[in-house]
Amino acid sequence: MSKKRRLGVLTSGGDCAGLNAALRAVVHRAVLGHDWEVLGVKSGTLGLLGEAAQVRKLTPADFDGTLLRQSGTILGSTNSGNPFAFDMADGTVRDRSQEALDNLAALEVDALIGIGGDGSLSLLKRLADQGGISLICIPKTIDNDIGVTEVAVGYDTAVHVATEALDRLQPTAASHGRVIILEVMGRDAGHIALVSGIAGGADVILIPEIPYRLDIVARQLEAVHARGHNYALMVVAEAVPMPDGGAVTGGNAPGSANYGGVGHAIAARLSDMIAAEIRVTVLGHVQRGGIPTARDRLMASAFGVRAVDLVAEGTRDRMVAWRDRQVIDVPIADAISSYRNVDVQGPVVATARGLGISLGDA
Ligand code: F6P
Repeated sequence: MSKKRRLGVLTSGGDCAGLNAALRAVVHRAVLGHDWEVLGVKSGTLGLLGEAAQVRKLTPADFDGTLLRQSGTILGSTNSGNPFAFDMADGTVRDRSQEALDNLAALEVDALIGIGGDGSLSLLKRLADQGGISLICIPKTIDNDIGVTEVAVGYDTAVHVATEALDRLQPTAASHGRVIILEVMGRDAGHIALVSGIAGGADVILIPEIPYRLDIVARQLEAVHARGHNYALMVVAEAVPMPDGGAVTGGNAPGSANYGGVGHAIAARLSDMIAAEIRVTVLGHVQRGGIPTARDRLMASAFGVRAVDLVAEGTRDRMVAWRDRQVIDVPIADAISSYRNVDVQGPVVATARGLGISLGDA
């Protein structure tokens, strides 16, 4: 009997909703569609380091119907497992890429499917190029900042969670006649803030792509009040800088250089400018969890199936993407170099402006 082909798969970088749905799709297509074996590498690129790769065999039985509905990743993930510049316990930084490649070779996989954001894709491509590995990638990131795909796995759920937060904040804001600021994630892109702000009825949305002035924000909040609203909702993307300073870091991950805390910093300044009481909610990692939306599950499933089929066709060094209602594939290099933040001249910004939402600039 000939040996079955073997596929490796890993999830890398920050987790998000829909990763388990992507793993399920990869396993179903590989095992049921092509009669291959699938090995899941645990903890992203970290699972490739050490004496041997840490893996678990994945079969359709692992995806018994509940995992499709759960966020997180059964394989685990990391955003601190760079094999080219690994932070050792003794404080040194070491290139452990050959160790990762040797462990990967020992697994005897015919190809690797990497599910990650732009940072993970860069690392995986570099590894694959160095080791001659067939690599296919699936885009995931709540930030939705990979330019060559209209959507990445996890983004839709994050927007849904942020919108739902506004749905929950509106009644309490109205009951107390307060301004409530919701700080959302998204790294350097304002997609989550902009879309959830529109969907959740915000009066002010601040995104890193549009410079703002606090006096303009204060005027909008007063105008909302003058229109008869006793409350206001404001969404602030985590990377928005202070008007006279840089981005605020550490508020959401104390001691780290990650963004977090700008909502409170802006509230402190605004409270000197307007009469209303202000409260702040930092949504943080809540946006990465919850039940994946139907759209995220669909994207994850479509990407997973296509990724396996690309391997079957002998294709390598490509990332699956969504464009014009089609699953396409593009060179991984294009995906890495195609950062996309909010188009300030685009239809979503125009919609916000058309609704009378202030973006802090006019
Ligand atoms: O890139 C995804 C993301 O959730 C960003 O929106 C956020 O800034 C960052 O990751 C948080 O990273 P960590 O998991 O290290 O706190």
